[in-house]
Amino acid sequence: MKRTKVVDALACTDFGKDINVKGWVRSHRSSKAVDFIALNDGSTIKNIQVVLNPSDFDEELLKGITTGACINVTGTLVESQGAGQASEVQCRELEVYGLCPGDYPMQKKGQSFEYMRKYAHLRLRTNTFGAVFRIRHNMAIAVHQYFHDHGFYYFHTPLITASDAEGAGEMFQVTTLDLTRTGRDGAPVPYERDFFGKKTSLTVSGQLEGELGATSLGAIYTFGPTFRAENSNTPRHLAEFWMIEPEVAFMDKDELMDLEEDFIKYCVRWALDNCKDDLEFLDKMIDKTLLQTLESVVKEDFVRLTYGEGIRILEQVVKEGHKFEFPVTGWGMDLSSEHERFLVEEYFKRPVIMTDYPSEIKAFYMKKNADGKTMQGTDVLFPRIGEIIGGSVREESHDKLVDEIKARGMEPESYGWYLDTRKYGSCPHAGFGLGFERLMLFVTGMQNIRDVIPFPRTPKNAEY
Ligand code: 4AD
Ligand code: MG
Repeated sequence: MKRTKVVDALACTDFGKDINVKGWVRSHRSSKAVDFIALNDGSTIKNIQVVLNPSDFDEELLKGITTGACINVTGTLVESQGAGQASEVQCRELEVYGLCPGDYPMQKKGQSFEYMRKYAHLRLRTNTFGAVFRIRHNMAIAVHQYFHDHGFYYFHTPLITASDAEGAGEMFQVTTLDLTRTGRDGAPVPYERDFFGKKTSLTVSGQLEGELGATSLGAIYTFGPTFRAENSNTPRHLAEFWMIEPEVAFMDKDELMDLEEDFIKYCVRWALDNCKDDLEFLDKMIDKTLLQTLESVVKEDFVRLTYGEGIRILEQVVKEGHKFEFPVTGWGMDLSSEHERFLVEEYFKRPVIMTDYPSEIKAFYMKKNADGKTMQGTDVLFPRIGEIIGGSVREESHDKLVDEIKARGMEPESYGWYLDTRKYGSCPHAGFGLGFERLMLFVTGMQNIRDVIPFPRTPKNAEY
């Protein structure tokens, strides 16, 4: 008999018909007269209730139906007597596909996320992670839908690269050289013998290649994994994360901010429209303000604030007695997420797009303002997250870009192909990068970025 997914079985009101469902046991309650099995197959956060008369089945068989076991159930779809569900299955035939021994690490309810992280391969079977990863899928679809509808082309940029897109030196090297034999005794590493004939790494961003796409196709976006060897053990940093990077020819700073705000609101709206059951579950179990927070973000205008104004506000509240863990040292300082979150959560109580940062604290490719001190960056700061988007107008002048690269001690030679965008038919353009897992943190209400990617990569952690 053809299997029906639990999500469809729950929606079906064709009572009396034969039905087959398969899935993993969430709980099994037994009594003399009747057994109840809550069954989940991942198609929805909701379980379908399987009801059976224990005297109709082998006792040993029923004993094997413990939390985590996988079973195959055939029976009749009946109207449920219990509250909270329309239908249930009156079981006639029962087969155990896979028993689940008592040492199953996900057996107990209410385990901490830290505990479950040790079993990232099994935590996927819990309600919370099922909800999170169904939402993750939906957010990926939202990203593609938004850009497709707005005339952007999905542009694939390489994961292995010889250039440091952010110029921050935080790259993982890629090599086939035998590291136990090369470059010994201070001898230079013979990269000419390496696979690509030069030093290569995993990319920190697809932006530079994205700019090549934008200056030909007009508007592109990338959506892929990026890698950063920064030793940041925080609830917001991963060594491997997914980034979405649109890049648009002829776009100025105001249009860029409009795009950032419109895109992020679209994604949050999408979650509210398409992930209702999962969000309601997370709102109940993880963060009681989740739905309300998501609703308010799509409704409110984001604050647009220059870095200079932001620093003045921080200095003012420090004078008035507000205490920060990291000192507010004035103009030129890099904001910590504590400062960003103060502005967003306490001062404005809305997302903030911060612009016109000092050039020195940002990447080399950002377009400088006429003052020579600040540049046209447009970061989006979010409640609970801090920076969720980093973006800017790009420096389109070839000579200014070369000067900046040199001033930062980087080598213009390694950016020759990138500089060609400025040499041949250069154009004003802009773009941004959204950290997909940071968006996921916001949308799910989860607290730790390790819990919104199936298999997290962080310092000293590359299991599976
Ligand atoms: O601000 P970032 O470093 O900007 C760029 O990479 C630009 N090339 C983007 C562009 O303009 N095309 O990173 C962009 C975003 C951050 O705002 C943050 O959301 C996320 O990527 N991000 C991280 N997410 C998780 N773990 C990390 N280690 C992250 N580093 C950045
Ligand atoms: Mg940034």
